[in-house]
Amino acid sequence: MPEPRKKMTLPGLYQKVAAQQPITWLTCYDYPTAYMQDQAGVDMILVGDSLGMTMLGYDSTLPVTMDDMIRHAAAVRRGAPNAWLVGDMPYMTYQPSVESAIRNAGRFMAEAGCDAIKLEGGAAMADRIKGIVDAGIPAIGHLGLTPQSVSALGGFKLQGKSAAMAKKIVDDAKALEDAGAFMILLELVPDRLCQLITERAKNAIIMSLGSGLHAHGQLLIYHDAFALYPKFKPKMAKVFADAGAVIREGLNGYVKEVTEKTFPAKENWFGMADEEYDELLKMLD
Ligand code: KIV
Repeated sequence: MPEPRKKMTLPGLYQKVAAQQPITWLTCYDYPTAYMQDQAGVDMILVGDSLGMTMLGYDSTLPVTMDDMIRHAAAVRRGAPNAWLVGDMPYMTYQPSVESAIRNAGRFMAEAGCDAIKLEGGAAMADRIKGIVDAGIPAIGHLGLTPQSVSALGGFKLQGKSAAMAKKIVDDAKALEDAGAFMILLELVPDRLCQLITERAKNAIIMSLGSGLHAHGQLLIYHDAFALYPKFKPKMAKVFADAGAVIREGLNGYVKEVTEKTFPAKENWFGMADEEYDELLKMLD
């Protein structure tokens, strides 16, 4: 029997960093996938507002609500009791004020059983991070390509290419760390910039999404890693297994076998004893 998995904790994450073991992090939005990720030993799970695109079929993350997030995060918690679970704060649930940020972060903890929250933005969001951390909730910052600001950023593209833009990201990372963020996610920034921020971080754990190897760990969007999102596959994502192809093949098989009446077969249904059936016919006469 394999050893049952221990619950990941904040000290556990710092221990991995100290031991130079990369932290593994995936997005997840539903119970069965959460169960598989927990069994596979994934350290952290992000219930991302990317669920607006991957699960709900919107063209952006902006329409996602707190209620959407809580429903999915609670399902993931039921499937993954051991991974460090992060709730992603959706658009306009923390930008308006520190108070809105604390209140909505608290909902992730109280209603969905999350271990931490993540929000997008740099120095301008430092007071939201501080408020959340002061309320006793571990907080993660998100810099680089921040999908809630995709319109202002000019599209889903590499951030921090020029020295001036890179300097702003370095300054933002420092502001988030000073505000108490225990972790900072760098999405789609050059690998050297990610390395520099990782080397300069004092207490914050730095995670990479499409930002190279030199961070304390990696995040991937589950639907990209398993070819489950039909609209596009970003360059930064590696397909670890083509689950989409397996499912499509199975669906074609189902349609074919039902059409040809080869499914269901005898082993897929239940019979009834002759005497019970005869009795039924008599009752109906
Ligand atoms: O919503 C999400 O999955 C995210 C990732 C893109 C980091 O924020």
